[in-house]
Amino acid sequence: MHTHSYIYSINYDIHNEELCKLESRQIFGEEEQDNLLFSNLKLNPSISPFIRSRFELILSATDYSGLLEKIKQKNIHVDGFKVEYLVLSGDPTKYADRLSKLKDTGYCIEGDPDYTNPSITYAIGQYKNTWYFGVLTKHQTDWLAHKKKPCSFSSAINMDIAKALVGIASKGDQNQRMLDACCGVGTVMLEACIAGFDIEGCDINWKACRSTRTNLAHYNYTAKVYRSDVKDLTQQYDTAIIDLPYNLYTSSNDASTFNIIESTAKLAPRVVIVSTVGIETHIRNSGLKVSDSCTVEKKGKKFARNIWVCERM
Ligand SMILES: C[S@@+](CC[C@H](N)C(=O)[O-])C[C@H]1O[C@@H](n2cnc3c(N)ncnc32)[C@H](O)[C@@H]1O
Repeated sequence: MHTHSYIYSINYDIHNEELCKLESRQIFGEEEQDNLLFSNLKLNPSISPFIRSRFELILSATDYSGLLEKIKQKNIHVDGFKVEYLVLSGDPTKYADRLSKLKDTGYCIEGDPDYTNPSITYAIGQYKNTWYFGVLTKHQTDWLAHKKKPCSFSSAINMDIAKALVGIASKGDQNQRMLDACCGVGTVMLEACIAGFDIEGCDINWKACRSTRTNLAHYNYTAKVYRSDVKDLTQQYDTAIIDLPYNLYTSSNDASTFNIIESTAKLAPRVVIVSTVGIETHIRNSGLKVSDSCTVEKKGKKFARNIWVCERM
């Protein structure tokens, strides 16, 4: 009955709304509605800072008893299972009723449950008069350990923005080979590494490179870091991220911004650029065209960051 294979539950702070929508457009080709995304794309929910869970749909029915009947007919037999009630947007079911529905569902499955260390987590939930049953995969929060990375500096990007940049640049495809062209202390690289991406970093400043290497080693990640001006790199990548240096108001810095963008565009056909100032002319003059963009306000800071998704012309 259901036309999509997965329901993704999305959550974001209000200051990240535009970033979350940009990520959704780039990965799923559409924006979330009611904090939900119905899709046929199978994505690891831990790739995104905003996806709380992936609900892989097995059965659906227009009424609850019809769903239970279908679960029974499926003859599921599995030891170590758990069932959760997934509250989807607009579901008015009260807590006590949800608990009793969980029990009903559990009795439709053969095998011994395990609530603390389940081998599989099933879920039920309802959205707009349809009841769903399926397998729930939750977002893993282990990336939050990066908050305690040994080296940081004031120009480092927020972890949640860094994580979203990896998803946006790769479109969620973990086979994409990536470059962090101005890696600083490696905030973006840490998020790419924990999500299993193949990423390399580059920074002109040796202290930044040393900090990135220290941070990567601290979490046992292996990734190459080049102490170099990005213009001197020769490797090719599927996609690149540039978190541009700040204070780009003088003409000489203008030249260095253009150098970074133009050089990176030669290394990757898709480039995601972060800047606090307008750089549209540089993007155009580098042979790139903007395919999508958004603005993110950094929590607690006065300036906003612009994010441009660019493709080679
Ligand atoms: C805004 S910081 C990047 C911060 C980084 N995303 C992080 O979270 O740590 C910009 C970085 O670009 C580096 N940079 C400036 N010019 C460069 C160039 N031509 N090639 C490579 N890196 C460059 C600077 O040394 C600085 O570390």
